[in-house]
Amino acid sequence: MATRDDVDRDRDLSGQLRPEDGPVDAALRPRGFDEYVGQTKVKDNLKVFVQAAQQRGEAVDHLLFSGPPGLGKTSLAYIIAVEMGVKLHITSGPALEKKGDLAGILTSLAPGDVLFIDEVHRLTPSIEENLYPAMEEFRFDVVIGDGPHARTMTLPLPRFTLVGATTRSGLLSSPLRDRFGYVARLDYYEPHELEEIVHRSARRLDAKLDPGGAKEISTRARGTPRVANRLLRRLRDFADVWGDGHITQEIADKALSALGIDPKGFDEMDRRLLSYIIDRFEGGPVGLDTLAASIGEEPSTIEDVYEPYLIQHGYLKRTPRGRVATVRAYEHLGRARRNPGLF
Ligand SMILES: Nc1ncnc2c1ncn2[C@@H]1O[C@H](COP(=O)(O)OP(=O)(O)OP(=O)(O)O)[C@@H](O)[C@H]1O
Ligand SMILES: [Mg+2]
Repeated sequence: MATRDDVDRDRDLSGQLRPEDGPVDAALRPRGFDEYVGQTKVKDNLKVFVQAAQQRGEAVDHLLFSGPPGLGKTSLAYIIAVEMGVKLHITSGPALEKKGDLAGILTSLAPGDVLFIDEVHRLTPSIEENLYPAMEEFRFDVVIGDGPHARTMTLPLPRFTLVGATTRSGLLSSPLRDRFGYVARLDYYEPHELEEIVHRSARRLDAKLDPGGAKEISTRARGTPRVANRLLRRLRDFADVWGDGHITQEIADKALSALGIDPKGFDEMDRRLLSYIIDRFEGGPVGLDTLAASIGEEPSTIEDVYEPYLIQHGYLKRTPRGRVATVRAYEHLGRARRNPGLF
């Protein structure tokens, strides 16, 4: 899918999210709080924590960022490290398979460093348990030998900041969640914020983005900076071939339609998902697994990537019996409702 290939690019062949993002993200990543647009409340709080830690010469307390893909969780981890002037160490839940993996990364930390664990909800229970003393008491217990002669040796660790990111805060165990000093949920961005982001990205990429073009992108990027930045790159291609390189509103509109992105910013998969519920399941409710099998997508991708935006904008409802298409979905797809009165 054209509009979701950045998500694919962030996954390795086994479908796991890579701890680092693709080259596109890296090039356009905000380098400090001043370049990080929106999420004002979260940003203001983080600035306070960073300044307080600096004044006291301490590490920032552990931070957890949750929210759908591409909203700027990894970017915040980078920014915390940059603003604190410390090193960022990156890993992810699925990458920490053995206790030794965790020991290796923890013992490589210098005082104040930031350890970023992406997809922190995918840590195994045993790794999680070993992480608790590291987070709370900055120590790591190693068991030497086995059987009756086993001894526990405690390795002291420097004070560090654990930054966790998750697309699914609901899957995080509560003991782990409780050990973060600050938990922030990132929201979808407003069009005016995305406009600011794409204008800045255009300057960095040396792309000629007209105000009208920026408007068009910002309303059709599903409230997501990563999507907006990717659309910008695509639209630049169209502008170079169809016009004189300027991304005007007209070129943006035509190019987005060519990419299968409709005026609401939905792509083929969004429309497919909604139209399957309406056409095959009479508007729902339909269970997630059935829906996933029908449209040929992983249930977890539907839950992480597609659904949150559709739910938040009132096109889809989650009910105990499954997913239901709302009136708005029927209207958007131009379908008549067979079952009026339900939603
Ligand atoms: N607040 C922001 N201001 C400017 N650019 C942003 C902002 N948030 C995200 N971006 C842009 O979007 C890209 C993707 O953001 P990021 O990698 O931080 O998302 P994420 O939440 O970690 O996504 P995932 O869940 O897929 O790992 C960044 O490289 C950056 O270009
Ligand atoms: Mg990320």
